[in-house]
Amino acid sequence: MRTGTALMRVEALTDTTLRVRIAPSGSLPENASWAVPAAVRAQSVAVVPTPDGFNTNALAVHVDPATLRLTVTDRTGRPIVADAPRPLTLDGAAFTLRKALRPDEHIFALGDKTGGSLDRRGRTFVNWNTDAYAFDSTTDPIYKAIPFFLGVDDAGRSYGLLFDNTWRSWFDFGHRDVDTLAMGSPGGPIDYYILAGPAVRDVVRGYTALTGHAPLPPLWAFGYQQSRYSYMSAAEVRDIAGKLASSGIPTDAMWLDIDFLDRNRPFTVNRQTYPDLKGLAGELGRQGIKLVTIADLHIASAPGEDYAPYDSGTAIDAFVHAADGKPFVGKVWPGPSVFPDFTDKRVRAWWGRNFRGYVDAGVAGFWNDMNEPSVFNDLHTMPVDAIHHIDADDFAPRSASHAELHNVYGMENTRATYEGMQALRPGERPFVMTRASYAGGQRYAVTWTGDNSSTWDHLRLAVNQMLNLGLSGFSYAGTDVGGYAGGASPALMTRWYQIAAFGPIFRAHAEKGSPRAEPWVDGPEHLAIRRRFVEERYRLLPYIYALADANTRNGDPLMRPVFYDYPEMIASPCKRGIDFTLGRSLLVAPAPKGESEQPYEICLPKGGWYDYWSGLPVTANPPPTGEAATLPGANLADRVTETPRIDRMPVFVRAGTILPRQAVVTSTARTPTGPLRLDVYPGADCSGMLYLDDGHTTAATRGRVLRQSIRCEQVPGGGLRILFNAREQGYRPWWRQIAVTVHGAAGAARVTRGRSPVASSFDAAARTVAFTLADAGLERPTTIALVTGGMQ
Ligand code: GLC
Repeated sequence: MRTGTALMRVEALTDTTLRVRIAPSGSLPENASWAVPAAVRAQSVAVVPTPDGFNTNALAVHVDPATLRLTVTDRTGRPIVADAPRPLTLDGAAFTLRKALRPDEHIFALGDKTGGSLDRRGRTFVNWNTDAYAFDSTTDPIYKAIPFFLGVDDAGRSYGLLFDNTWRSWFDFGHRDVDTLAMGSPGGPIDYYILAGPAVRDVVRGYTALTGHAPLPPLWAFGYQQSRYSYMSAAEVRDIAGKLASSGIPTDAMWLDIDFLDRNRPFTVNRQTYPDLKGLAGELGRQGIKLVTIADLHIASAPGEDYAPYDSGTAIDAFVHAADGKPFVGKVWPGPSVFPDFTDKRVRAWWGRNFRGYVDAGVAGFWNDMNEPSVFNDLHTMPVDAIHHIDADDFAPRSASHAELHNVYGMENTRATYEGMQALRPGERPFVMTRASYAGGQRYAVTWTGDNSSTWDHLRLAVNQMLNLGLSGFSYAGTDVGGYAGGASPALMTRWYQIAAFGPIFRAHAEKGSPRAEPWVDGPEHLAIRRRFVEERYRLLPYIYALADANTRNGDPLMRPVFYDYPEMIASPCKRGIDFTLGRSLLVAPAPKGESEQPYEICLPKGGWYDYWSGLPVTANPPPTGEAATLPGANLADRVTETPRIDRMPVFVRAGTILPRQAVVTSTARTPTGPLRLDVYPGADCSGMLYLDDGHTTAATRGRVLRQSIRCEQVPGGGLRILFNAREQGYRPWWRQIAVTVHGAAGAARVTRGRSPVASSFDAAARTVAFTLADAGLERPTTIALVTGGMQ
């Protein structure tokens, strides 16, 4: 579509994904993107032309030829997203796009950005990756620039928009004008994608299909991880590992921060304090603990000092140049430093090779920090006129300013690390954690929320940040458990453990000079509570790992806002606290004001819930005592009042869940003993998933997995059927038996597997029927029937 000199091009990549490009001068810039891979951009579906646009199977696209005003509706004419009256204004290279913001529209995603609430409506944001030490809920910009948002109305109808512009762009979600959603940038292409829902889930799935799914991390990444800035010596690491074991805290990883380096120089080891890194990695490995080390990108500018990364990098001209044509030098942890030019594939390959020493020593994962990039100067980063080189993907090779590439610098840093790992350890799943990133960065790294503080406000913020990250493709996010800066009170630390145990990445970390923050430091009572929650996470690993497997294919985040699976909660009059779900099945409802002992209300979506800890159906509010429960579907409470207690965090299971769990292990390196446990919570649309693989190789992507879906059906007139579907069995399970517990039972049941009876027991107080199945044969479709007068 053209008007005057301007050209607008709208392409349908799929029936629900549109790409919109506008060229004010009439010629489109090169078709390239850091966020959306070339193969995805090349997709298209057939469209049917209409007088003012075209239709896909799902959408109608209308463009006003006079103004280029764009309106997208569904095929019934219901608006999805529409331009505002002045859709585009230009100011030199800068531009502003305006869309209508509907009165009941809520705004989510946008990565790690803060704010007082999950909903971003009414606020403005700048996309500029920034080292934001001790940020708070008003700080913007912070570490990541993920220019993707979701609009959701009160009916749960949603669309998403990826504003694929890497410059210092901005959003205004009804701040200057309540009815207008504006976005703009000082330069770069006008290039954005519209993802039509209709549900939030559809938009997030569409967005991750567009920008890439997060690859499955190794299993150990789901375990508990202990970090500090810094464990100062191998002796201290051993000591902490020993105390974790003697305190009974299952642990999968310990992290080495910059003090393990020689003078903070990346890719070195301080030989005085860490004389034998390989020996240490081996020793920890025998305890089931992996080593993760920091790998900052700033290379010490150390000519003539035999510092190999500097020398080899200089030899290939690997560093970003200042405007004067010499390598840009800025001060960071190692002192004066130079900065690899990660948008050049030659430099990325060089960067990856630097990891060989660590990989040979047995380091399992890497931590790309400070990659905004952070520089200790007034700008907190490189000047915008620094010169990078682009040689990547389908970009034409060329020089580019830091103004253009700042926001993708961190992502390309993690890409270099990720691809380096793939080259150095073929067939193994890389683990990379990053602080900065851009849209699509989930393809290479997990993330954390940077230097938070040990305050109750930050604990609330942590939940919202992780939820919005999950909606932005980053399903794997963590926060520094306990807070990085300041030192947590015992209660705050304990609450943080409780919440993090149900989050995607569970890593405790604290700043140098802050009080000790390992789980035992506040005495045996707090340790016991923290241990109980770490253990619970290990019990839940089969469930969490199955969510991770699903995420690799559909992009559903592990940790989700409640409205993700329960859209009616968007407009619920029940006031949400900081509750969230882990998968569809678990609803976690921490005290919204952890410092307060005031009772609070928990809002439960319709359909029925069970208490995770007791296994009993949630009936009414307050819960009745000793009264027979009504089974799901009828009269179940949608609100629960909870009085905070430090040793408790409310968790609920959706009626209609089959929840796999295992015995506690001290590390995922250990094989669980005993049976796989399956808790069945009858209800509508009852299902569960088993997933297992070897935990560390990419063989999983070639089918060496165990995957099995299970359903349950209530039988009219009483009874229940549990249906094991055919198992995809390319990997042998560790269990020989499956111990099934059916919740909500009002009486004993006769259990049969096919035609054979299975011994079962009824627990009247717990209202459960329990029985054990031999696993042999369960790989084939199998029906387990429970016949009971009491099951409803
Ligand atoms: C940055 C990181 C922090 C780390 C420190 C030292 O501040 O955000 O996690 O401990 O650098 O490497």
